[in-house]
Amino acid sequence: MTANTPTTGDSKGSVTGVTGRRIFSGIQPSGRLHIGNYLGAISQFVPLQEEYDCIFGIVDLHAMTQIYKSKEMSQRIINAAVNYLACGLDPNKATLMLQSGVQEHAELAWILATVTPLPWIQRVPTFKEKARQQPDNVNMGLFNYPVLMAADILIYKSVAVPVGEDQRPHLELTREIARAFNARFGSFFPEPREIIGSQARVIGLDGKNRMSKSLDNCIYLDDEPDVIREKINKQGVTDPARVKRTDPGNPSICNIFTWHGFFSSKEEQAYCAKECRVAGFGCLDCKAILIKNILELLAPIQERQKELMANLDKVQEIIRDGTERARKIAQETMKEVREITGLTYLI
Ligand code: TYM
Repeated sequence: MTANTPTTGDSKGSVTGVTGRRIFSGIQPSGRLHIGNYLGAISQFVPLQEEYDCIFGIVDLHAMTQIYKSKEMSQRIINAAVNYLACGLDPNKATLMLQSGVQEHAELAWILATVTPLPWIQRVPTFKEKARQQPDNVNMGLFNYPVLMAADILIYKSVAVPVGEDQRPHLELTREIARAFNARFGSFFPEPREIIGSQARVIGLDGKNRMSKSLDNCIYLDDEPDVIREKINKQGVTDPARVKRTDPGNPSICNIFTWHGFFSSKEEQAYCAKECRVAGFGCLDCKAILIKNILELLAPIQERQKELMANLDKVQEIIRDGTERARKIAQETMKEVREITGLTYLI
């Protein structure tokens, strides 16, 4: 696979312009994780854990803003944890935590909400998008979503947050909320910056929309090889103007070619572009090279997934330990926040 984050870091994981040590990011356990989550987020986390004090959350309170079955939540949390670990997060280097296990996140979210003017939230594009996607369930949680996200980040006084492109507005808002809090109560929270890699907006199989669990356009990290082959061959949209095998194609408007940029070598990319342009091969030939490379990338991840699924006690222990460590840091921050906001009457 080609390297992620050339714009923001070096090979050891140091990030230009990030001076503090604490990094936070999170993934919602709202379904199975897909290659968009991997490329946009998790593949950035792995090098960062070598250099920074990283906390990676499974943000189950955020996932509650969508309708779900209570009995499925534990399974989703396990799926997220297993994928974090299978993709290379090392619990000896990074902290893996469960958001609902650290109640201080919700407490800080309330306090931050009191310094957040309503119009700041009304203009957040992800709120508008979610409200469109789930018109029957436009709940207050969706509205407060970015404030809880700011709390996740600020409670650890994080200086940077590795995320995909869609999260950029949330990071801008987090900085504004930190600034508003600091203006009111005195300088306290750092203003965290986003770390956005070169694979930050992965389009789905439909060739149009961002790959997303809520759309049927994903390759999941635990999809079987046959399923991946079939999805790419049948659903993977290519250059729409290339109708017949003998038509020359245009790689620059083909999403499958963009995916080659993520998974294939420079030589393979050049070969595919050339053969496509002269109709030297068909889309299925181009897809075959891509499929081979995706399966090669996923094979060791899927092997580790299976090992971890057979060892769930260990996975649970890792989440429990990480959550405990995160809680200690969060409690320290909240102690200070209560002091500077005057919530100390009974203490
Ligand atoms: P979530 O669970 O939707 O996505 C997790 C991460 O995956 C990235 N991502 C993508 N990157 C590239 N292409 C895609 N198609 C794609 N789909 C998803 C997301 O950008 C994200 O980095 N709000 C967050 C969860 C969250 C959080 C936080 C993140 C809650 N609190 C604090 C950072 C810090 C979200 O919806 O993630």
